[in-house]
Amino acid sequence: MGSMSEKKRIAVIGAGNMGAAMIGGILKAQVAEPGEVVATTRSAERASEVAERYGIRARAGGNREAAAESDLILLAVKPGVLGTVLEEIRDVLHEGQILISLAAVAPIRLIERLIARRMPVFRAMPNIPVVIEEGATAVSANGVATAEHRALVERIFRAVGVVCFVDEEAMDAVTALSGSGPAYVYMVIEALIAGGLKMGLSHEVATRLAEQTVLGAARLVKETGIHPAILRDQVITPGGVTISAIHELERHGLRAMLISAVETATNHARSRSRALLEQWKTAGD
Ligand SMILES: NC(=O)c1ccc[n+]([C@@H]2O[C@H](COP(=O)([O-])OP(=O)(O)OC[C@H]3O[C@@H](n4cnc5c(N)ncnc54)[C@H](OP(=O)(O)O)[C@@H]3O)[C@@H](O)[C@H]2O)c1
Repeated sequence: MGSMSEKKRIAVIGAGNMGAAMIGGILKAQVAEPGEVVATTRSAERASEVAERYGIRARAGGNREAAAESDLILLAVKPGVLGTVLEEIRDVLHEGQILISLAAVAPIRLIERLIARRMPVFRAMPNIPVVIEEGATAVSANGVATAEHRALVERIFRAVGVVCFVDEEAMDAVTALSGSGPAYVYMVIEALIAGGLKMGLSHEVATRLAEQTVLGAARLVKETGIHPAILRDQVITPGGVTISAIHELERHGLRAMLISAVETATNHARSRSRALLEQWKTAGD
């Protein structure tokens, strides 16, 4: 594929929410020029929206052509259509290409089985804040991927947030923690706003204070590297207001609830993964 610092030709198959955010990251990290990025969608409306927004080529359908002409193929379709898309493009794949799948719960060995060839395959689990370049992405790779391939993939996801490389067996837990995690935090923000409203704050004040409280608290954890339990302890005054609220949160099991939520979601991801493998059991035979 030549040097990794060369500009790449990139195909984004399924330019929905995630796919479009990744196009933004790819252009920002200057992995490719806009003219070298091609995106596909199902509907013509979405294709023209994406083409206009990023100044790239985009069309409804045409996955085979897009895959054939690219160095890097990013699969951002839903897991339910991943199998069909891979069967569609498999015989245009060739030496020197890299495949990155964003499809939740789709194991690398399923992708390898569906393409029926050895090539570098990455499985990435980003989360929705990639749209504002504050994503948390975990990535795993198959045995064909080299350090150079990994560096390129890391560069793309770093353009839209933070990246960790993990063993693939960790991916279900990653999906449960950071993939779905924004939804849990939205519930926390929503409930804090509701608490403020109940106590008579205006919508505007409650919203502004709640969102910044979550953002500021998270940044303090990240920037100081101090364990959150210690930071929490630091805001407690003996006999004060915060400890009375913490007692209430402990009584209702806030921490146990979140631990269980991640556990349940991990198990659910695992069973979805198994079901997907079962569905495509005879593929590639
Ligand atoms: N959203 C998240 O928080 C999140 C987090 C981690 C991973 N992911 C993964 O990212 C993937 C995409 O999720 P999303 O939220 O971005 O979904 P989405 O917005 O529905 O995007 C899917 C895109 O695929 C297009 N598409 C459907 N069938 C196609 C086909 N046969 N050929 C080409 N394009 C096709 C759709 O086109 P139209 O728009 O024209 O229908 C749509 O633009 C999923 O696999 C998901 O598991 C999502």
